[in-house]
Amino acid sequence: MKVTVCKEYELSERPLVVETDFGRIAVLRKDGEVLAFEDVCTHDDGPLAEGEIEGDSIVCPRHGASFDMKKGTALRMPATEGIATFTAVIRDGQVEVEID
Ligand code: FES
Repeated sequence: MKVTVCKEYELSERPLVVETDFGRIAVLRKDGEVLAFEDVCTHDDGPLAEGEIEGDSIVCPRHGASFDMKKGTALRMPATEGIATFTAVIRDGQVEVEID
């Protein structure tokens, strides 16, 4: 299912958090791509979008776990489980995220 999360002009290199029926989703522009991922750390529900970006990964501001923003893989403890990532496209000035 496609969910419209924001307007294209709202995208930046910092994650924008959008509340959806499927939970909080963070979207950002990174190297010309639009990335979208679940804004909930699998360690203890930390707000990932508030964390620092290091290359393609984001660091949870609570205890320092990091996740690949494209693949969702957990890269650093204390998280061991990955996060969900979503395909995002821009259509008619809107950002749409594909949710399974
Ligand atoms: S809640 Fe994210 S590392 Fe603990």
